[in-house]
Amino acid sequence: MKKVLLLGSTGSIGINTLNVIRNFPEEFEITALTVNTRIDLLEPQINEFNPDTVVVKNEKSGSELRKKIANKCRVLTGEDGLIEAASSLEYDIFVGAMVGFSGLAPALEAIKRGKIIALANKETLVVAGELVTRMCKKYGAKLIPIDSEHSAIYQCLEGEKNNCVEKIILTASGGPFLNKKKSALGTVTVEEALSHPNWKMGNKITIDSASMMNKGLEIIEAHWLFDIEKDKIEVVIHPQSIIHSMVQFVDGSIKAQLGLPDMKLPIQYALTYPNRLTNNFKRINLPKIGNLTFFSPDMEKFECLKLAYKVLNEGGTAPCVLNAANEIAVDKFLKGKIKFSSIPQLINEALDKIENHKSPDVETIFECDKKTRELVLGLS
Ligand SMILES: NC(=O)c1ccc[n+]([C@@H]2O[C@H](COP(=O)([O-])OP(=O)(O)OC[C@H]3O[C@@H](n4cnc5c(N)ncnc54)[C@H](OP(=O)(O)O)[C@@H]3O)[C@@H](O)[C@H]2O)c1
Repeated sequence: MKKVLLLGSTGSIGINTLNVIRNFPEEFEITALTVNTRIDLLEPQINEFNPDTVVVKNEKSGSELRKKIANKCRVLTGEDGLIEAASSLEYDIFVGAMVGFSGLAPALEAIKRGKIIALANKETLVVAGELVTRMCKKYGAKLIPIDSEHSAIYQCLEGEKNNCVEKIILTASGGPFLNKKKSALGTVTVEEALSHPNWKMGNKITIDSASMMNKGLEIIEAHWLFDIEKDKIEVVIHPQSIIHSMVQFVDGSIKAQLGLPDMKLPIQYALTYPNRLTNNFKRINLPKIGNLTFFSPDMEKFECLKLAYKVLNEGGTAPCVLNAANEIAVDKFLKGKIKFSSIPQLINEALDKIENHKSPDVETIFECDKKTRELVLGLS
């Protein structure tokens, strides 16, 4: 029986993680669940999965929950609660399914304890990839990706030697604006940007998919996870989202992983690795799908993709600036304060204004994140 600490249980990945765990009551037990504010969704999860502890990041929501559930389980609150859960509870697998930079601090605590880190929160590797991978080696923690592309690559690399990899081919659906002209991106609405053609996800990652920043973050994530240079990471548009990514080897052979666009599959793989367990998820009907198509992304239209390659090249705290600026810009777009096309502009401005620090430690990363957020909050 593996004990699971699930951070972000009320989000899209969190709910899917519980959907997987529900299928395997003999394999997994929930130690703790964490949320930001949505205690209405957390309460039924507590009743079903009986965690010893829950953490509610928002103090007010946490006090409300305490009153509602009496002594059913321990309720911790705030950032301290998240850190306490990751650093002191008894668990085997840490599932990082929170969104944004806030996922970093608890992940670092789990790494220090040498845990298995099933990671959906790609921002952790984007902002602190060098530090996180170094710490994983030092403390013997194991990172297993949940992101479908990285799970695909992880699966393709099983049984292969690292020096036999020629390149990684990250597939991208292209999002809702794949066929729009660059000039039209200034007038797209929040609703249009939130209509992803293939995946149902949280708002932030859905906007990132529309701007292709999501693929940009994934390039950086792949660089750190698989220790591969940026020139060996290629992005290919594949609108059907059936091939989740590929690895090309030095002999020219390509391995791909296929599946329906359903996050339960990579989540289950991360939880059960290195085993595969039988499930009843829907299977692919290849004749019904018919065609799988591929083409190159338009780097001029999707400026965020270009910015991701740029910060990866610069290294240091540049990816942290890109991430923080993007989080604030996306939030502003969702609140109707800026145009969709202003997202890369704000990121560019932040990258120009914030100094880059090479090989940053934890404190430098947190300072850089804070400084960038303050700067971009003041930009329009
Ligand atoms: N969704 C996908 O299919 C998908 C695929 C690949 C990778 N990912 C990655 O997985 C992560 C989660 O994505 P998602 O789509 O599941 O996001 P989501 O639906 O927005 O859920 C986010 C979860 O994190 C909690 N949360 C939000 N802000 C927080 C904060 N400041 N402190 C503590 N907890 C906080 C939320 O709690 P409340 O509900 O209380 O707000 C919720 O439980 C992201 O890093 C994303 O890039 C997602």
